Amino acid sequence: MSSLTSQTAASPVKQKLPRHVAIIMDGNGRWAKRRLMPRIAGHRAGVEAVRGIVKACARKGIEVLTLFAFSSENWRRPREEVGLLMDLLLSALEREAQKLHENDVCLRFIGDRSAFSAKLSEKMAEAEVLTAANTGLKLVIAVNYGGRWDITQAARRLARQVATGELAAEAIDEALLQGQLSLADLPEPDLFIRTGGEQRVSNFLLWQLAYTELYFTDTLWPDFNDQSFEAALASFAGRQRRFGRTGDQVEQMQGA
Ligand code: IPE
Ligand code: IPE
Ligand code: MG
Repeated sequence: MSSLTSQTAASPVKQKLPRHVAIIMDGNGRWAKRRLMPRIAGHRAGVEAVRGIVKACARKGIEVLTLFAFSSENWRRPREEVGLLMDLLLSALEREAQKLHENDVCLRFIGDRSAFSAKLSEKMAEAEVLTAANTGLKLVIAVNYGGRWDITQAARRLARQVATGELAAEAIDEALLQGQLSLADLPEPDLFIRTGGEQRVSNFLLWQLAYTELYFTDTLWPDFNDQSFEAALASFAGRQRRFGRTGDQVEQMQGA
């Protein structure tokens, strides 16, 4: 091992960390199926993995963690599974909100809430109010979220401003549209992780992923642990983000 490598290994603080990590937590159903268990058992095990990743991000000082919990397309699943997922979300929220608050986590939900039960919407709003002033990890849970929905609702808001005469159509640019998206006030994801082996975005953060580093792993979500996360972070740290520039330009900028 060269001295440079051992130095890097001895000082993990120096590793380039993402500010914002966004995760598609996939593979719960297959995890359960392999154990001859019902799919919901996989979702329950998935909640445990969520606890683990939240702790890891808080410990590392990562600013934002966005988790895809339920997509706008997941309503297509069997009624029973959808119902059980909603129950699981509600019970996890009731159980964890206070603990998250004690750990200085600021919780936020993104997605179309109009489809949820009154009780679930209430609990979501309560947890957001409870943790709003916290300055630790920002934990964003995407529920009934779709990237296309997000862009559409942003466009609708701008259209309303145009209709009332507040805004000229010609004045609409990327920054204005971005300002109406769900994560407008947060840095864009630096690292995207999808577990469960599929290599697709499944209508997650479409706009925001424009320059995100993508990482795919076969590990099923309930099995995703600290070690799996370290592997993703190491992959991220080894990448050169060019944002359209040449590699030489980036090296010059970093050296300056
Ligand atoms: C992800 O796991 C959780 C949700 C989509 C709610 P899946 O339930 O999609 O698990 P697989 O893909 O069937 O294994
Ligand atoms: C994506 O997983 C959504 C969530 C993890 C919440 P899916 O399992 O629903 O994705 P597809 O259907 O395989 O693309
Ligand atoms: Mg899946």
